[in-house]
Amino acid sequence: MSSHADSKPWTVPALAEAKRNGDKLVMLTAYDAGFARVLDANGVDLILIGDSLGMVVQGQDSTLPVTVADVVYHTTAVSRVLQRALLVADLPFGADATPERALDASLQLLRAGAEMVKIEGAGFKLDIIRHLVEREIPVCSHLGLTPQSVLRLGGYKVQGRGEAGELLRRQAREVAEAGASLLVLECVPTPLAAQVTAESSIPTIGIGAGPGCDGQVLVLHDFLGLDSGHRRPKFVKDFLAEGGSVAGAVRAYTDAVRAGTFPDAEHAYAS
Ligand code: KIV
Repeated sequence: MSSHADSKPWTVPALAEAKRNGDKLVMLTAYDAGFARVLDANGVDLILIGDSLGMVVQGQDSTLPVTVADVVYHTTAVSRVLQRALLVADLPFGADATPERALDASLQLLRAGAEMVKIEGAGFKLDIIRHLVEREIPVCSHLGLTPQSVLRLGGYKVQGRGEAGELLRRQAREVAEAGASLLVLECVPTPLAAQVTAESSIPTIGIGAGPGCDGQVLVLHDFLGLDSGHRRPKFVKDFLAEGGSVAGAVRAYTDAVRAGTFPDAEHAYAS
């Protein structure tokens, strides 16, 4: 059960309040109005227009070819139907390479209906986060496995193991200090994600990061059990099989996240 009223639209300050109240945040990706309407009506708090659209909608091998125009197109479609969920849109690869580019891309996304933009990484991205936040653009950070780093990483692998855990904890502090309002942690060992969450002044949303985060996100196609043509990550669960319909799947997911029963150990990395 969440203390945020079912009919009340989510706002950025309400996310911080949810963390203070210990209410879990439920997030899914969506790319079109049809699915977004079902998610919004069945208790999803945050919808992400992820650059995962490159892989699950466009059939690309990675998220790297996705453009700002692509994200704007899907953001426009989804934003038309939302009544309650807060809409977050990804800054695709290269769109956050400089403060000027990031501001221009973010303004396009906000004009399309996004209420927050997501940025992968820390380092020089801290200046970008500050640049946007100072200009009243809410930012969601994304740390751990950042799919836009796939060429450098050489694949999609669990991040933060061993000594790299200290770096992740520092980056999490830095993005919050730079002004981010939300932090996605992807493919991070459960104990590390729980520690980052306990230390973090902003809500964390896990994907492959265990049950200790303040909320959870999944890619819509994974959550519906669709074959993406790529190796299925350990943290993915087919909620359509459990829920019996798209609306039933969304309710099964929101209930499980709020009750803390998803993700369980089978869908997380113990170390
Ligand atoms: O692009 C995306 O869908 C994402 C999620 C995996 C968090 O970034």
